[in-house]
Parts: sequence; C-alpha cells; structure tokens
Amino acid sequence: MLCLVKRGVEHYYTQKPTSKEKLNLINAYLRGRYFKFWASSGVFSKGHIDPGTRLLIRSMILPERGLVLDMGCGYGAIGVVAAAVNPNLYVIMVDVNERAVKLAKRNIKLNGVTNAEVRRGNLYEPVKDMLFNCILSNPPISAGMETVEAIITEAPKYMCKGATIQIVVKSKIGRERFKNLFEETFGNFTILAREGGYRVLMAEKRGKI
Ligand SMILES: C[S@@+](CC[C@H](N)C(=O)[O-])C[C@H]1O[C@@H](n2cnc3c(N)ncnc32)[C@H](O)[C@@H]1O
Repeated sequence: MLCLVKRGVEHYYTQKPTSKEKLNLINAYLRGRYFKFWASSGVFSKGHIDPGTRLLIRSMILPERGLVLDMGCGYGAIGVVAAAVNPNLYVIMVDVNERAVKLAKRNIKLNGVTNAEVRRGNLYEPVKDMLFNCILSNPPISAGMETVEAIITEAPKYMCKGATIQIVVKSKIGRERFKNLFEETFGNFTILAREGGYRVLMAEKRGKI
C-alpha cells in the first residue's frame, strides 16, 4: 500500500525546518561597526539584513546597563549588535525556530560577543522568571497577529519599571491597531523612527501595569 506523508509548508517561523540548509554569510555595517552573520534557508531574511531590522538597529535606544531581550531573534542581528555596542548589557535572544537559534549562537561567537545567549522556545516561555530593561523585536507578522499581539500585551510581565519595548513594523500594517494596543497595554506610545515603509514603535513601562 502506498503511504503518502504530507509535509507541512515551511515558514521562517517553522520550529524544526527540514529544508536543505543553504548557508549565506552576510557582511553588514551597523551602528559604526562591521558585523558578519551566518544566515540560512529556513530562517527570516537569509540574503541580507532586513530593512526593518536595519531601522530598528539604527534607532534602538539601549539602556546603560541591565538585561535586554531580543524576541524572535532569527539569526541574531538585533541582539548581537545590542550586545556588541554596549558591553554593560546582557542580551537574551529567543526564537522558536531551532535553525535560527543555532545560527544566532554561531553569530554571537563569530562577532566576538560574550554578553549574550540564545534560548529556544515560544514567546516569553524561555525567560519566564526574568525582568528586562528593554525588549526589542522585529515581530513575526507572517505567523499571525495573535503572536505579534502577545509579544506586546504580555511584555509588561517581563519588564522592570522604566523599561521600554521597541518593535519595528511595516508602516502599512495595523497603524491604528498597534497604536491602540500600545496605549491600552502601556498607557503611552511613541514612534521612534520612520523610514522606507517601516516604523519603530516604542512604549515605556511607567507604573504598575
Ligand atoms: C520577522 S523575523 C525577525 C528575525 C530577526 N529578529 C531579524 O530581525 O532578522 C521574526 C522571528 O520570530 C520568530 N518567531 C515566530 N514565532 C515565534 C514565537 N512564538 N516565539 C519566539 N519566536 C518566534 C521567527 O522564527 C523569526 O525568526
């Protein structure tokens, strides 16, 4: 009897990509330094640093010290740069995609970063006992708005007072929805940067939320 196994479609947020791994080395100049990143098929933006990611890296406001979370780190560009530009930070990078996690670990070493680590898991589960001074994310819009909304609405549980969340999104996506979501969750909302069809949205945890 013929047995057909239907394989699921692979996305950049697939937990265990099975496509053949095709590596690509990306060279990038970010925040005044040169970086190298191994990327691959089966992860987000394997050919180049995504323009939204670039805008977030350029405009992100990092704390002087403390803990930073890169939520949905992919191969690690945001977290690696944050850790490299401020050695007083400790950066935790989280992703659900095991191939992305493997690459992000490799990219930490490749760039000589010693103040960062990568954890695999769903959203905040791998950091459930931690409080961050800053949460950065280029969120997985393709995974669905439910996941993106969870990154924002669950964030306050993992933020110290005075901490910020900074996320980059395409300008045409959910303008009012994001504004309302940030205002309902944090009581404040700022557009930190706007360029090339992307916006970096920021909110601060001010009081008890
Ligand atoms: C738009 S990509 C950004 C990747 C990387 N930060 C960058 O800027 O190149 C979003 C990332 O979120 C990850 N992701 C999707 N769903 C997730 C979840 N539930 N928990 C953690 N990470 C998730 C995806 O695997 C993907 O790597």
